[in-house]
Amino acid sequence: MSVPFYITTPIYYVNARPHLGHAYTTLVADVATRYHTMAGGDVYFLTGTDEHGDKVVRAAKKENLSPRVYVDTISQLFRDLWPELNISNSNFIRTTDPAHMAVVELVLQKIYDAGDIYFAEYEGLYCFGCERFYTERELVDGKCPDHEVEPETIKESNYFFKMSSYQDWLIDHIRKNPEFIRPQRYRNEALAFLKEPLEDLCISRPKSRLKWGITLPFDNNYVTYVWFDALLNYVSALGYPDGDLFKSFWPVVQHVVAKDILKPHGIYWPIMLKAAGIPIYKHLNVHGYWNIEQGKMSKSLGNVVEPLQLKNVYGLDAFRFFLIREMTFGLDSSFSEDSLVQRINSDLANDLGNLFSRVLSMVHKYLQGVVPKVDPPVEQECEFGLEADARNAVDEFESHMESFQFHNALQAVWKFISQMNKYVDVTAPWELAKRKSSRKQLDAVLSNMLEGLRVISGLIYPVMPDTAATMQKHLGLDPQAPFYLLDQLRTWKAIKPGTQLPKSVVLFPRIDPDKLTAERAAEQEKSNMNLDIKEEITLEEFSKVDLRVATVLQAERIPRAKKVLKIEVDLGHKRTVVAGIAENYTPEELIGKQVIIVVNLKPVKLMGIVSNGMLIAAVDDSGPTLAALDKPVEPGTPLK
Ligand code: MSP
Repeated sequence: MSVPFYITTPIYYVNARPHLGHAYTTLVADVATRYHTMAGGDVYFLTGTDEHGDKVVRAAKKENLSPRVYVDTISQLFRDLWPELNISNSNFIRTTDPAHMAVVELVLQKIYDAGDIYFAEYEGLYCFGCERFYTERELVDGKCPDHEVEPETIKESNYFFKMSSYQDWLIDHIRKNPEFIRPQRYRNEALAFLKEPLEDLCISRPKSRLKWGITLPFDNNYVTYVWFDALLNYVSALGYPDGDLFKSFWPVVQHVVAKDILKPHGIYWPIMLKAAGIPIYKHLNVHGYWNIEQGKMSKSLGNVVEPLQLKNVYGLDAFRFFLIREMTFGLDSSFSEDSLVQRINSDLANDLGNLFSRVLSMVHKYLQGVVPKVDPPVEQECEFGLEADARNAVDEFESHMESFQFHNALQAVWKFISQMNKYVDVTAPWELAKRKSSRKQLDAVLSNMLEGLRVISGLIYPVMPDTAATMQKHLGLDPQAPFYLLDQLRTWKAIKPGTQLPKSVVLFPRIDPDKLTAERAAEQEKSNMNLDIKEEITLEEFSKVDLRVATVLQAERIPRAKKVLKIEVDLGHKRTVVAGIAENYTPEELIGKQVIIVVNLKPVKLMGIVSNGMLIAAVDDSGPTLAALDKPVEPGTPLK
């Protein structure tokens, strides 16, 4: 019977577009999902969006959209991103789903009836511009960071959840279950919070202030506020209280979050579950933060490439590999394109890619691409512990995957890749191929190498599912049969002798960062050249514009007009033009200058003066700079 496994990501706020941080957490959940499928589990993977609250109302207002239209739009961006990252979620929940809203009401009522929710007056720092309370810590120099005004202390009546009564129970639960919150550092952090007396949690907002929320079942004038709504998605998605999914998957649930929401998940949520009589989740897996760094590659171009875009540049599997390999689960990491390229070149192109193409090209060169049949005693003699290395790799991989130490799981796989590369060097099939008498040995070592590649193809499956499938195809494995089950990876000699293998492919091309940077710079230059260029015109159309050289005779300021000057010019005849250059030129410095004027523009009246032409100037952030000629010419000379 397969073991159930339920994994969740946070439901993401729709006040921001999806970014690398959201992608990482969801990818981790996907890797865990795929791993548990390998282990023969029955897996349910939930993600979704968190759509209520004043943050969302404000973001919608900013875009001039109703909350409803706004949340639909942003939620769709998340939903559309996941297939692009090959995320295999079973469900996508939205807190605006009526089924979710009904569960929130049900649980609120249950806890209210049990006496754990009470009504009381709340005093806090309120910014009228933001229409919300601020905590002291959120203020900058005592002011609201958006409106730069000091918030006012106001009183408001609200509903509170009695967390304090469960404090001792929670401390005990965390102590008795060392893996409840992991890694250890976050368990310690949660216990440290619990050293201070827990404050009760304000769970409502009056509708006069916030309408975009779920109405409290016991008071029509209030909506739930943030966490009571959001956290319950993990049970509502399974059809709590009596859905079949809930019955099979709930008790084994594991959550994945980053350190920013440790407190709601590590403190509020278990207490909410306890108060509602729902079994407590099994594990809370907490990871660190990605910090985006401008590496050399992006610095040289002067702009940062949006990290998520890089999957299109380097390929999805390489991108997934980098995120999982680079971050030590639990610690912060920095993301830069340089480090991504470095990892692709060393771990993927060099270690894995080379091994794969080396082995397959030898099988083609020496055995015409046919999987050899092996003589067992010869196989034993040529084995050099490779089978045991493979089994160790599978065991280590399994234990690290189970404990959410993905980078270590990959390290175990790469240790085996390096053992395989050594095996190739030690057995030197190119030497064996030179002597007819070593044919059996040649068959045996190449067969072992193909088996090793099969194990590797299975072990990379959770992180790089497409590459795993490509490798599988080239190893002659049946694409219909799941080739990555852990049990199969513990067997040796599973590839059928006699199978004709297709020609090898390059799994990961090597990247030359200098060449790539140069190509990008050239592309950028090309696109800059096209920037802001107006519609094309014919020569005939251009010749309609009559441009002439004129010499400035007189220039003066116009009263109450700060920006313009009245200018008299000699064009062969005298003319008056009004020009918006007073902030960059004084009347005195203009006199005697030769300027260029459009002389056939329809006259316009500016500041009460008729302007008979327009001066030509380059205009940038510093204002206008008059166009000038190389040397003096006769006033009235046309420009062609
Ligand atoms: N809506 C709440 C969660 C409710 S869950 C019941 C929320 N949403 S969020 O959009 O702000 O998402 C926060 C989560 O996004 C983090 O916990 C993490 O999973 C992910 N990340 C956001 N920025 C991140 C990084 N810079 N690095 C890694 N992950 C980060 O909080």
